[in-house]
Amino acid sequence: KITPVILCGGSGTRLWPRSRKDRPKPFLPLIGDSTLFQATLERSADAAQFGPAIIVAGEAHVPLIEEQAAGFPGTSIIVEPAARNTAAAIALAAARLDPDDVMLVCPSDHHIANVEAFRTSAALAADLARKDWLVAFGIEATAPETGYGYIRRGDSLPGGGYEVARFVEKPDLETAQGFLASGDYAWNGGIFAFRADFFMEELSRHRPAIAAGARSSVAAGREDGARFHPDAASFGAIEGESVDYAVMENTDRAAMVPAAMGWSDIGNWHALRDARAGGDAGNVVRGKADLVDCKNVLVESDGPRVSALGLRDIAIVVDGDEVLVTTMDGAQLVGKLPGASLQ
Ligand code: GDD
Ligand code: MG
Repeated sequence: KITPVILCGGSGTRLWPRSRKDRPKPFLPLIGDSTLFQATLERSADAAQFGPAIIVAGEAHVPLIEEQAAGFPGTSIIVEPAARNTAAAIALAAARLDPDDVMLVCPSDHHIANVEAFRTSAALAADLARKDWLVAFGIEATAPETGYGYIRRGDSLPGGGYEVARFVEKPDLETAQGFLASGDYAWNGGIFAFRADFFMEELSRHRPAIAAGARSSVAAGREDGARFHPDAASFGAIEGESVDYAVMENTDRAAMVPAAMGWSDIGNWHALRDARAGGDAGNVVRGKADLVDCKNVLVESDGPRVSALGLRDIAIVVDGDEVLVTTMDGAQLVGKLPGASLQ
């Protein structure tokens, strides 16, 4: 069975003012009634395919995680003593698991519309992971996004999937435009299938200090019911780097499974509008609102009624004593607002 390893780390400041320090993006019901974190648990809750999930997160989010994971028996938490980015976070889980275990690393803050397609790709990815591949989920690239990793498809593999000819994390705009135009690149969806021992082997090859630090930290760690506390001193000494830079850009054993599953990382209010609208070009409203002659407008209000006339492509978000108004084009920069950093 596949072990889901769910990473809870990012803050989601671009979804301010709804996303705040004490209740960040993964723990908000942004689409439907479940939070993004709960939806991540639900996607991998099919007992025929998956074992219980391991959550990797910082101390601050443990109460929220325990509350929201209450309906998922067997879930355990690795409590990071410090944030050291995804290579180290994944290594903690890999070092805890049996060598032969296949882990499915999942971000906790994405939306996937088609769960069946996700599970089909997960099964194929797990098969490849068992055969010494580090497997990424490839998403069809539709814009020159600079915040994503790009995967160039190589030879196809028997049974499905491709070798990765090249993995480039967060290219500059010009490079991303070139990748898009070439038609040879997919986005990296941030979901990976690794066999635990093979991940540690490749991590040791390319970033020996991260692998050794995570190993010692687990060896000297402390069990506390469903929580595991890795040793703080050895983990704190690790230099933080994302798995994309540390491993995926460097390994010769990267593979990719195509995943057409309605993926969105809900990076900002524009992406959230699109995910809620399900592709329609209408207004999307949560809370009280009167919209007259408005198009493609998102309103989200936890109290006051929002009245608007003649708007196009605008997001209005009211949360407690904060109000955000932005064009959809500006949505990407919300995290840079002074309010968003104070939270
Ligand atoms: N536990 C833990 N600890 N989780 C972390 C940490 C950490 O120190 N740092 C990040 N995470 C979690 C985030 O919460 C998120 O769920 C996931 O790991 C990925 O981290 P991001 O910070 O969101 O990465 P990114 O969006 O810049 O880039 C990644 O995702 C893209 C797709 O959304 C990369 O994998 C890109 O290549 C990819 O395209
Ligand atoms: Mg992200």
